[in-house]
Amino acid sequence: MQQVDFIWHNGELVAWEDAKVHVLTHGLHYGTGVFEGERAYDTPHGTAIFRHRDHLERLFKSAELYYMPIPYTLEELRSATHELIAANELRECYIRPIVFRGYGQMGLYPLDAPVEVSIAVWPWGAYLGEEGKRVGVRAKISSWRRISPDSLIPHSKASGQYLNSVLAKIEASKSGYEESILLDHHGLVCEGSGENIYAIRDGEIITPPHTAGILDGISRKSIIQITRDLGHRVVERDLARAELYLADEVFMTGTAAELVPVREIDDHTIGSGQPGPITRELARVFDDALHGRDRRYLEWLDVVEVPSKTV
Ligand SMILES: Cc1ncc(COP(=O)(O)O)c(C=O)c1O
Repeated sequence: MQQVDFIWHNGELVAWEDAKVHVLTHGLHYGTGVFEGERAYDTPHGTAIFRHRDHLERLFKSAELYYMPIPYTLEELRSATHELIAANELRECYIRPIVFRGYGQMGLYPLDAPVEVSIAVWPWGAYLGEEGKRVGVRAKISSWRRISPDSLIPHSKASGQYLNSVLAKIEASKSGYEESILLDHHGLVCEGSGENIYAIRDGEIITPPHTAGILDGISRKSIIQITRDLGHRVVERDLARAELYLADEVFMTGTAAELVPVREIDDHTIGSGQPGPITRELARVFDDALHGRDRRYLEWLDVVEVPSKTV
């Protein structure tokens, strides 16, 4: 990964190589952490974090669901992120805030362990590659089911829960696919290992509902709004596996991956095997929204003052 100068750690900017924790950190052993993935883009209005407040609100909700009080306010974390991006002189970056149970208490009762907060930023290209965004990816339905809401909390973006995505991702990759698609505990379509999913059939966009155990994606919220603004019909409903194979178009969205068309699932070609017209239209408008080129979505941008590079 591409290293930068500073990381924000428990209220201070520290050098990248000094942002360390003890090996007996609670979160390292039991996965007791929650995090976010955000992006800042170089826009005509300056460097801007996409839907920053929505991401931070989700971070606070994720933490609350695991009884983890965050020792900073949302405003403090917002300005810490601005300060960090400015200190690193980054015009565009990925942003990773993490809240975790720290060092001081072992065992499964976590409430006496301290809660630590870090924010890291670094340049990070499209998660499934530029080529994937352009021509689409090949995906495989995972043999692993998405974590069920009666065992864990799919709505919380919690560190330990990502072992589920890790297993699915490894399986897909070892089988020669770029991404995995997980079914929910009922065998219905849920989402990708790190993306929400959409099928388009006869002009209608279908995406699995909250009851399927999805993560309530910020990109998903944005795509639903953009889709409606463009005059398309979007429905949140149960989606059978075969409906993916039979769809005219399939795509996925996530902060890391952005909008990625899916051209093949389990070796079935989706539609023509190329990104379809609605996917391409949504990708263009979403990309404009991310980069501050569409006036309708400027309210989604949180502009950061970044000093000019000191060479
Ligand atoms: C499991 C999972 N689903 C969906 C998403 C998409 O969410 P967002 O659009 O907020 O990045 C992510 C990415 O954070 C994810 O990890």
